[in-house]
Amino acid sequence: MKIRAVYPGTFDPVTNGHLDLIRRCAALFDEVVVAILRNTEKSPFFSIDERVDMLEAVVKSLANVSVSAFGGLLVDYAEQIGASVIVRGIRAISDYEYELQMALMNRRLSSRTETVFLMPAEAYSYLSSGLVKQISALGGSVHGLVPPIVERRLKRRYGRRALPVESTV
Ligand code: PNS
Repeated sequence: MKIRAVYPGTFDPVTNGHLDLIRRCAALFDEVVVAILRNTEKSPFFSIDERVDMLEAVVKSLANVSVSAFGGLLVDYAEQIGASVIVRGIRAISDYEYELQMALMNRRLSSRTETVFLMPAEAYSYLSSGLVKQISALGGSVHGLVPPIVERRLKRRYGRRALPVESTV
């Protein structure tokens, strides 16, 4: 039996930590659907189309990985696409409480999906989309933290707006 997994998230924007996790999923499951939440309460920096576009570009070489956008409950979406596994990444113990709460709530909502936690490489354990945006906004380099396409888009978006690091001269 083929196992399809869904890897959901906001991906605003996708980082090398996400990509590391996607590669691990691709090696474990027959099919992986990276699912970007459409109606997030956090007002996203990149539009849903931009996030889909960037993710599609970075997973292009992974034959069993596809990208989609979803709204509503994750368990409903998982059922709709035939995914029996929800994958979430855990970087540190601090992630665990929130992830456990979500996993148990999703289990209560649907007994047909199982949540699996994966750890990214240690090099990405302190990386987050939020920090990447903050660094870009302040004119810092995010080279090596995000795929090149994301680095270019961040530069383009923040470009002239980037605030220089405060200087006394
Ligand atoms: O990247 P994020 O922001 O941590 O991802 C959170 C996400 C998208 C996985 C979560 O917010 C979600 O599943 N939202 C869909 C709505 C839903 O099913 N809510 C109940 C979760 S218990």
